[in-house]
Formats: sequence, structure tokens, C-alpha cells
Amino acid sequence: MGRRDQDDQSPAPGRRSFTYRIVTLLAMTVVVGLVLAACGADSKPYSHITPRSSTTRDIQSLYKLVFWLALIVFVGVQMFIVYTALRFRQRGNEVDRPAQIHGNKRLEIAWTLIPAAVLLVILIPTIQTMYEFSADAQEGEYVVDVYGKQWWWEVQYPGLAPNNGTLITANEVRVPAGRKVKLQLSSNNVIHSFWAPQLFGKMDVIPGHINEIGFTPEKPGVYYGECTEFCGVAHALMRFTIIVEPQEEFDAWVAAYNNERPATDAKPETGDVADAPAAFGACLACHAVNNTNAVVAQAGMASNPYSQGAGPNLTLFGCRDFIGAGVLANNKENLRTWLRNPGGVKEGNYMALLIKEGTLNDAQIEELSDYLLSLKPAAGCPEDAREQQDAQDKQGEG
Ligand code: CUA
Repeated sequence: MGRRDQDDQSPAPGRRSFTYRIVTLLAMTVVVGLVLAACGADSKPYSHITPRSSTTRDIQSLYKLVFWLALIVFVGVQMFIVYTALRFRQRGNEVDRPAQIHGNKRLEIAWTLIPAAVLLVILIPTIQTMYEFSADAQEGEYVVDVYGKQWWWEVQYPGLAPNNGTLITANEVRVPAGRKVKLQLSSNNVIHSFWAPQLFGKMDVIPGHINEIGFTPEKPGVYYGECTEFCGVAHALMRFTIIVEPQEEFDAWVAAYNNERPATDAKPETGDVADAPAAFGACLACHAVNNTNAVVAQAGMASNPYSQGAGPNLTLFGCRDFIGAGVLANNKENLRTWLRNPGGVKEGNYMALLIKEGTLNDAQIEELSDYLLSLKPAAGCPEDAREQQDAQDKQGEG
């Protein structure tokens, strides 16, 4: 813009142009609109203002309390500012300044005591809730051990495998609806953080220490979570789902996990490795599939939470929604992509140290992805909780 234009068009000093005001108003409207749209995000899976458990309902109550108090304070302060600006504004050509005051004991006491009272009103229920949480975490009808790995989650259910053994799975935490669940979190590598915003607050996952979360999920459905502590190169791709399902379905899943032979063409009756595709031999070093020949990795690796070498247990893999810790939907096409070059999908993952582009040929990739998708009970997967949730949501909307 040339000097001349500026001279011609600049408004008088101290006054904004009409266009400037309109643009500001529009920008503010857009910002407010976006905020409101975000608030209405009831179906957003990572929204912490749509609680779906006892725990997050308590957090929500605190949140509402803080919200309303903050709103009262905000409106009060704004009104006071507007009042002051109008009451003490310059009138006409007045040149005298109002009396200049420094210090006012009554005012200072008031604006110390009022915020202190507001903070106290927040503090007391907050401390109460925190104590309730830690009391909650002490009990639990279902104990689930969750281990943070780089970069996925190992999930263990002590006592749910045959002979009081431990059922081991990965990246999906299945729990029955309406039952108290106690999560015991730990790590054998670096610090992670476990957070499913609709079900519970964030909790650190620390090496050599167990942190506990207690919660009672209310509604069947699939709830999303992810690692929320920077833990290395694939931190952003360390997701998980919490699948809340009716008790019968949870029991069916446990039974399927423990007892049913996968509907593969393997020969489980012989426990013979020969029926997993030959290419699966490369996978066996890190991955186990219960009730098949592919269990050699199980004994010393996946069953030991402190071993770093083991990859996710792949039992009932065909029933999982995602691969690579929530990175891709579990389907044939994505499995091909993953097996062709896991490092291309999820940079830095340990599988990519062994499997690079070209390590597996097309025939092997085809064979392996078919095999993995076939790892499900002969009678089909226990009913998918997500379908149920979708149906419920639709009913609710209609
Ligand atoms: Cu694990 Cu970030």
C-alpha cells in the first residue's frame, strides 16, 4: 500500500475503520462458532465431556462446578469493567482526571477473600473425588494388568486363562459393562500414559511401579484411548480401545479366547506347527497364537511382561478392529500394507527391524494376511460391541 493510499484512507487516529470492525466481528463469530461446534461434539470418541463411566461422571461434576463458577466470575468481572468504563468515561471536553487512588483496604480484602472462597468451593469436592478414586481403585471385580510397550499395549487378565493362568491380549481391553474394573498399569521400558477420556482420567504408566485406575463402565460400546506421554518415535501411534460389552459377551469372548480352536486350516488337535503358513515361522520369534501350533513365543516372551522382545499376542486376531495399535483398520488390504513394510505404516516399530520392503514376497503376504484374518472362533467373533453401540446411538437420535 502506497503512502498516498494510506493518507487517504486511514481513519482518524484512535478510531478503527468500519471494515476493520466488521472483519473483527466476523472473526470473533467464527471463533465462537467453532468453540460451540466443539462443545456439541457428543459423538467425538476422545471427548471428555461425554462421560461413560462412574469415574468420568465424577470428573464431569467437578468440571461443571468449575465451569459455572468460572462463568459467574467472568460475567461479574466483565460487567464491572463495562460499568467502570461507562461510569468514569471522559465526557465532552473534560480535561480533569478523576481522583487518583492508591490502595484501598476494603477492596483488597474483598478481592483476596472472594477468590479464596471460590477456590475453597472447588478444592473440597476435588479432594473428596480424589479420595473416592483411590478408594475405587482398591477394589475391582475384574483386575486387568496393562503394560505399556514401545509402542503398543499388552493386556493381561490374571486368572482368566485355564488353570488360573493369565489371558494375554493386545491393544484391546475388553471389560463387562456395569462391573467394577481395576486396571493395574506398569511398563518395562519408558513412561507412558493411559487415557480413555470417556471412561477414566489420565494415568501414568511407569516402569517398576504399578498405578491403579478403578472405573465402572456403564454402556456397552467401543471407547478410544491413546498414550498421552511422549515415549519415543511411535508415541502418536500407540492407541487402544476399551470394549465394554454385556457380561455374556465378555464371558463368550473369554471362552473363545481360551477354548475354541481358531477356524484356520491348522490342525490344532495335533498341536502341530506345520499348519500355520511357513512364512509364519518368522513371526513366531515374537508373536504367539494360543491354541495353535504358534505358541512357542508364548512361554518366555509374551507371558513375561518384562521382556522387551515379544510382540502382541495374536490370538483371535481376526476379531480385532485394528492393527498396529489402532493405526489401521483390520482388513485384508491394510494387512497387506502392514506386512509389506510395517516401518512405512508406523515408523520405528520393532517389527520393522526384521520385516522390510521385500522381506516377504507377495505370495507370503497373501498367505499370512489370510491366516491372520482366519484367527477367529469357528462360530464367528463374539458380537461386535461397536455395532450394538451404533444401533443404540441411532435409536437415541431417532
Ligand atoms: Cu507410549 Cu507415548
